[in-house]
Amino acid sequence: RKPPSRKGSMADMPKDLLQEIKWLEELFTVPTAKLKEITTHFVAELTKGLTVEGGSIPMNPTWCMSYPTGYETGTFLALDMGGTNLRVCEITLTDKKSEFDIIQSKYRMPEELKTGEADELWEYIADCLQQFLSSHHPDEKIDEMHLGFTFSYPATQNYIDHGILQTWTKGFDIDGVEGENVVPMFKTALEKRGVPIKLTALINDTTGTLIASAYTDTAIKIGCIFGTGCNAAYMEDCGSIPKLAHMNLPPDTPMAINCEWGAFDNENKVLPRTPYDIIVDKESPRPGQQSFEKMIAGLYLGEIFRLVLLDLHDNKEVHIFEEQNLDKLRKAYTLDSSFLSLIEEDPFENLSEVQFLFQNKLGISATRPELELIRRLAELIGTRAARLSACGVAAIAKKKNFETCHVGADGSVFNKYPHFKARGAQALYEILDWPAKKSKKAEDPIEILAAEDGSGVGAALIAALTMKRVKEGNM
Ligand code: GLC
Repeated sequence: RKPPSRKGSMADMPKDLLQEIKWLEELFTVPTAKLKEITTHFVAELTKGLTVEGGSIPMNPTWCMSYPTGYETGTFLALDMGGTNLRVCEITLTDKKSEFDIIQSKYRMPEELKTGEADELWEYIADCLQQFLSSHHPDEKIDEMHLGFTFSYPATQNYIDHGILQTWTKGFDIDGVEGENVVPMFKTALEKRGVPIKLTALINDTTGTLIASAYTDTAIKIGCIFGTGCNAAYMEDCGSIPKLAHMNLPPDTPMAINCEWGAFDNENKVLPRTPYDIIVDKESPRPGQQSFEKMIAGLYLGEIFRLVLLDLHDNKEVHIFEEQNLDKLRKAYTLDSSFLSLIEEDPFENLSEVQFLFQNKLGISATRPELELIRRLAELIGTRAARLSACGVAAIAKKKNFETCHVGADGSVFNKYPHFKARGAQALYEILDWPAKKSKKAEDPIEILAAEDGSGVGAALIAALTMKRVKEGNM
């Protein structure tokens, strides 16, 4: 199916709808000057987060204190508690440089668990791990295995196998975990089952991504996740982390920092929030938190889109979807970012795929001009997300004076959302004033590339690096 040309497709648009589109364009477009302003503020906030007083970005030290060499060896378990799936992996880091073997199983993460009881969560995770071991090592008496646990939420870590949950993010809302060390909770569930596992490292998905990507590409300096949530990690020097000064670590010792940049601008100083972003925030389980994430991450893109369409129908003079039943569209979080991806991917001039999606999923039959508006709106929301993301990457690069580097990125939005990479790269050009490329194939000074498996291989590597550090008697 060859995509027909979309030239002139706005030609028949009624004037009032065109005006509405113009208004949306103004609302959702982030011009270069604003990107630069955001980035400048971002750099200051990254620095502030490292001080004793702190700022809105947590900048959590992770106790992952070196890059891998590529020569790490051993067999490890990795557990990834993601938003949608739970993944258990067994990873063997082989004695060939930067090579590994992996076996893995995925389990569904039941939706009810995200807002249920803490015990149920830990019991469920421990069950999955036990099931994995009994199906891959039946009848064997296995020695205690070392586990890297990817727990991708903001946590205060006093050491690497410790993590006090600061706040739930990504729509999780389980009582009794915030402010607590999650490791003993999980250990209790494992001990109850007699699972022979030693939790060696608690890691964030961004740290895992940074380390896994650096295992195969030494130019990697930043690890990012653009998925259900949005966040980044990078290596800082301990000497630049005033909040760790009391530990008396050598100033040039590296320390991976899990930025938790989703919390950037929680105090509303610089982000161009629309009325729709404000509603998303207000109706979330944690209003006032994760302001940056709520404009970028996959969990929220479909929700922003839904709120705009409803507003155009209910409150604006244009009244889109007239005489249509909007019951399905009225349900919060009914559309996820894959719905927006499909809209942006529709190759047909008559937008027949978009029409089909609206009919099928929402029971709405949209007119041709409405389809044009829908498509433009998805483009605007997706573009804004990519451009704002670039501000975070540019801010870390500026803070660390990285003129060139690779960034390892993972997550459903990065991997699947159409044009996300190109839009982010374009924004980096604008923010960092790079000269035009000499040839299309030339690398950008800062390239955001698809990462290696952070919560599998990354978790195993961090467990291996931790064991090495302990053996050498370093902290
Ligand atoms: C949220 C979490 C963060 C994680 C990110 C991506 O921002 O707070 O820890 O890295 O989502 O999964």
